[in-house]
Amino acid sequence: MKALEGVRILDFTHVQSGPTCTQLLAWFGADVIKVERPGVGDITRTQLRDLPDVDSLYFTMLNSNKRSITLDTKSEAGKAILEKLIKACDVLVENFAPGAIDRMGFPWEKIQALNPRMIYASIKGFGPGPYEDCKVYENVAQCTGGSASTTGFDDGPPLVTGSQIGDTGTGLNLGLGIVTALYHRERSGRGQRVLAAMQDGVLNLARVKLRDQQRLQHGPLKEYPQYPNGSFTDECPRAGNASGGGQPGWAVKTKGGGANDYIYVIIQPQAWAEYMRLCGREELIDDPEWATPEARLPKLEQCFALIEEWTMTKEKFEVMELLNERNVPCGPILSMKELAEEPSLRATGTVVEVDHPTRGKYLTVGQPIKLSDSPAEVGPSPLLGEHTKEILGEVLGLTEDEIEATWASGALGQRASAAAE
Ligand code: COA
Repeated sequence: MKALEGVRILDFTHVQSGPTCTQLLAWFGADVIKVERPGVGDITRTQLRDLPDVDSLYFTMLNSNKRSITLDTKSEAGKAILEKLIKACDVLVENFAPGAIDRMGFPWEKIQALNPRMIYASIKGFGPGPYEDCKVYENVAQCTGGSASTTGFDDGPPLVTGSQIGDTGTGLNLGLGIVTALYHRERSGRGQRVLAAMQDGVLNLARVKLRDQQRLQHGPLKEYPQYPNGSFTDECPRAGNASGGGQPGWAVKTKGGGANDYIYVIIQPQAWAEYMRLCGREELIDDPEWATPEARLPKLEQCFALIEEWTMTKEKFEVMELLNERNVPCGPILSMKELAEEPSLRATGTVVEVDHPTRGKYLTVGQPIKLSDSPAEVGPSPLLGEHTKEILGEVLGLTEDEIEATWASGALGQRASAAAE
């Protein structure tokens, strides 16, 4: 039995943040029913397409293991179906612009009245306050959550990261909120609202920078590259590739000179001797000018330059092997190409090849959280409206005639949108 088998999710999510949440829940075994606008569907179906007339990788990689129903929730017949779906489901998940579900005619009070056990989970850009009505995308959240102001080099502009910490990061938070609310419902019998704001999610991930903001009041941040020669203001600066933790780290070049021929090295106190032996600089192991973390702090740049002289003579994987043999933490900079081809990630199901009915084979990132008793089987994403009839019949118990009447009302869109049935 899958961990979330029997949990039915009414999935009003679109773009990235919400879909990542419901995809994770689907992999845990929930029945995720994605409601999409007839004829249009989730906008990502057609965004960044690499192949004509097939759902984009953007969509397929965020919506696997779900079922799709097309429903115009603004039409009268559509609203009647939506009421039935609310009664039949355990969780409603949405990440529309603020107020969209209310404008459809389904404020929280009405949802609660229809189904007091329902958990109503939302992702919004901001929590309550001056910006609560704003629309937000990934990079807006990275900028407003403290990530961009603390990412990049001191002499450069703020940078957004390649990781989708605003969207996928907040999707994870919402997933945890939903599962927690389900657990609470087991004991209280009641559903509740769950809100995950993207600004909050990014700030939570940038926690160490709020730590550093407060440390600044008591002197310079000595592990930052600005120390000792640069200057600090009263705002937490960008730290380049400096480690966010207590042990100094930096990305140094390796042999090859390619864009990703780098390795991230960390100088734990006990690792200094190992580095210096590998670098052929044994005389610096006990030299009081270099031997202790305190002595090295004002000259971290020189420490990493010494190490880089050595790493540039070796491939990054060779450096990794040599350092790991000596119990020294490090991480080669892996490109997406290298990750896509990495056999160990295929073996664990972290990178999965999926066969899609119209696209063919493609790679996706599978379930990153592994449960020993509920392994994820990653399937394809649904075609637009692929399960419309199935959901009306099997989930809502509509008869053939009732389904016909609903088609005739126009609430399900053109029959062609359910061509896959
Ligand atoms: N039938 C009828 N109408 C539907 C529908 C359906 N099945 N599904 C959606 N719609 C309507 C909604 O009711 C809404 O209409 P309204 O504006 O008249 O109320 C509209 O489609 C969707 O609106 P919106 O969410 O504003 O889409 P958008 O493309 O303009 O904005 C975002 C996209 C992401 C900026 C916005 O949804 C948002 O800020 N979401 C919250 C934060 C978030 O998750 N951001 C990250 C996304 S990766």
